Amino acid sequence: MTITKQFSVDIHMLKRYDKPGPRYTSYPTAPKFSTDFSAQDFHREIIESNQNGTMTDLSLYFHMPFCDTLCFFCGCTMIITSNRDRIDEYLDYLTKEIQLVSRQINPARKVAQLHWGGGTPTYLSPEQTRRIFGVIRENFTFREDAEISVEIDPRGMTDEHLDALKDVGFNRASIGVQDFIPEVQKAINREQSEELTRWVFDGLRQRGFESINLDLIYGLPYQTVDSFENTLDKIIDISPDRLAIFNYAHVPWMKKHQRVINEETLPGPEAKLQILKTTIEKLTASEYVFIGMDHFAKAEDSLTKAFMEKNLYRNFQGYSILSGCDMYSFGMSSISQLQNVYAQNVKELPAYYAAIGNGRLPIERGYRLDEDDHIRRHLITRLMCDFEINKPAIEKECNINFDDYFADELPDLEPMIFDGLVKVSDTKIELTEMGHLLVRNVAMIFDRHLKEMRQSKKQMFSKTV
Ligand SMILES: C[S@@+](CC[C@H](N)C(=O)[O-])C[C@H]1O[C@@H](n2cnc3c(N)ncnc32)[C@H](O)[C@@H]1O
Ligand code: SF4
Repeated sequence: MTITKQFSVDIHMLKRYDKPGPRYTSYPTAPKFSTDFSAQDFHREIIESNQNGTMTDLSLYFHMPFCDTLCFFCGCTMIITSNRDRIDEYLDYLTKEIQLVSRQINPARKVAQLHWGGGTPTYLSPEQTRRIFGVIRENFTFREDAEISVEIDPRGMTDEHLDALKDVGFNRASIGVQDFIPEVQKAINREQSEELTRWVFDGLRQRGFESINLDLIYGLPYQTVDSFENTLDKIIDISPDRLAIFNYAHVPWMKKHQRVINEETLPGPEAKLQILKTTIEKLTASEYVFIGMDHFAKAEDSLTKAFMEKNLYRNFQGYSILSGCDMYSFGMSSISQLQNVYAQNVKELPAYYAAIGNGRLPIERGYRLDEDDHIRRHLITRLMCDFEINKPAIEKECNINFDDYFADELPDLEPMIFDGLVKVSDTKIELTEMGHLLVRNVAMIFDRHLKEMRQSKKQMFSKTV
C-alpha cells in the first residue's frame, strides 16, 4: 500500500492569505517571553519537574553557535569565527552549565532525544565533539533507543568528523544544502558542490545513520521554478528519508547581514508561490508525504508513521515523534521547555559566560503558562501536527465545552470555510488540502496573545507562505 498522496496548489488563494505569522514551535511564541521570569523561577521549576511522579523522559538540546563563513541568508543565532580556540572556551562553559543543570535533575530520568543545532555543530573538531559528548554522557543516562541527532554543514567535513559523530552515538542527521545551483550559491555565499553533499550523505549511510534529512530553502536570490526543479531532481536522486523545505525568512531588520542580499534578485511573491506549488506537487508525486509545515518524509519513515497515527508533536526543533518529554536546552540563546514554563538563555556570549562563571543559570527570560495557555497550546499543537482539531478529544483532555470556550474565535473561521480551506462539523475542524498550507493562519485565530503583539506594531514574524 502506498500512502503517498499528490497535492495540487491554488496560488491565488495562497496569495490572499500570505501575511506575517508565527511558526508555532512554541505557544505562546517567543516574543511573549518576559524578563520577569528569572533563573530562580526556572530553578524552582526544575525541582518541581522531578516531583510530578511521572518521571518524564528528557529531551536535550545543545546550541553550537560557531560557523566558519557567513551565509548571507542566515536567520540562525550564530557567530562567525576562524578562531577554533573560541570553541574550546565555549565548551568549557557549556560543561559548567551541563553540570549546573544536571545535578538538579533526578538521575533516574533518561534521555530519549538529543539534538545538536546551531550555528554549525560540525564546526567542532572531532576531538571537541568527543570531549563535550563525553561530558554529556557523564551527566545524563540515555535510553537504549534514544534518537541522537546533529545538524551538519558538509563544508569542512572529513572522515574523522563522520567517525567521531558515529562513535559518540549520533544516529540521525540533518544536512544543510539550501540549493544546488551555482548562481544561487554564489549570491548567498554558500558554495557547496553536489558531490560534497553526496559524499557526506553516503558517509552517514555507511555508518548506519537513519532518517537522514536534507534542508533546502525556497525564495533565495536568482531561484526560478526551473532552477529549483533542477535542484529537486538532484535531491530526489540522493533520496533522503526526510526533507525540510523552508520558506526563506527575509528579515533584514532583525538580521542585518541579510541586507547584503539584493532584494531585486529575490523571486517575487508570485514566483515564490509557483516554486512552492511545484515543490509540493513534485515531491508528493515522487515518494514523499507532505508532513505538516515545511516537511516531507518517505512513507516508511517514523515521521510519516507518527503523522498518520496522529502522534506527531511540535517543539523548538520543528516536528518530533516524541511527546511528553521535558526539554532542557544548553548554550547561548537556547530555550528549555518544561511542562509549565519556557526559559530562554541569554543571547550574547559575554553574558552567558558571566552568568555561568558566577555559578548562575544563564536564564534571560521565560514564561509560565496559565490554564488558558495550556488549552490553546494543546489545540495549536494538534492543529499544526494533525491538520485537524478533534473537538470531543480537546473537550475531554482540557475539560471544556469547545464551542463555548472558543465562542469568540469560531466566527473568525468563516472566511476560511467560505474559501474551502477549513471544514467544520459538530466534532471536527478539518483543514482541506489547500488549508494545510495555511495552517499557521488558522492557528493564529486561536492565539490569544497575537492581538496584543500586533498592537505593538513591531514586525516580528516572517510571512506565512
Ligand atoms: C543551523 S542551520 C543548519 C546547520 C548548518 N549551519 C548549515 O547551515 O548547514 C539550520 C537550517 O536553517 C535554515 N535557515 C537558515 N536561515 C534561514 C532563513 N533565513 N530562512 C529560512 N531558513 C533558514 C537552513 O535551511 C539551515 O540549513
Ligand atoms: S546557514 Fe548554517 S552555516 Fe550558514 S551561517 Fe547560518 S548557521 Fe552558519
